[in-house]
Amino acid sequence: MKRDEFLTTLTGSFSAVCLACMTTACSEDQMGAPSAMNTPAGATSGSTINLETELKAVNNFIAKNGFIVIRTATGNTAASFVAFSSVCPHAGATVEYKESSSSFLCAAHGSTFSSSGALTQGPATVGLTKYDVEITGLTLRVKA
Ligand code: FES
Repeated sequence: MKRDEFLTTLTGSFSAVCLACMTTACSEDQMGAPSAMNTPAGATSGSTINLETELKAVNNFIAKNGFIVIRTATGNTAASFVAFSSVCPHAGATVEYKESSSSFLCAAHGSTFSSSGALTQGPATVGLTKYDVEITGLTLRVKA
C-alpha cells in the first residue's frame, strides 16, 4: 500500500470513529434534559381511579397508565392526593414508589425523588412531572 492510500484509508476510518463519538455525545447530552419523554403514555386522556375500592388508606398508591397516584391524607378531596408521571426524567425508565420511605426510585440508574417528586439523587437532573387530580363522586382522574 502506498503512503497516499494508507493516509486516505486512515483518515476515512478516523472520520467514522469521530462521527460515532459525536452521535453518542449528543445522546448523552439529551438524556438529562427535560423533554416530552416525561409525559406518560395515555397522558392525553388521563387516568381514573375508583376511590370506593382503591387508595383507601393514607400512603396507599397506584401505578397505572404511566402515572403514580398516592393518597397523602384522609378524605376524598383533590388535596388528599398527589400524582406524578412514572417516567423517569433521566432516560425514560419506569420509576417506582417506595411506601416504606415515601420516596421514588428509578432502578435503571439509581435516581431518587422525594415524596413531592423533587430530585434527591441523580443522574437525573430534574424532578418528576407532577399532575393535578380532580374528583367527581368516588372517581379520581389525573388531569394530564
Ligand atoms: S432512567 Fe436513568 S435514573 Fe431513571
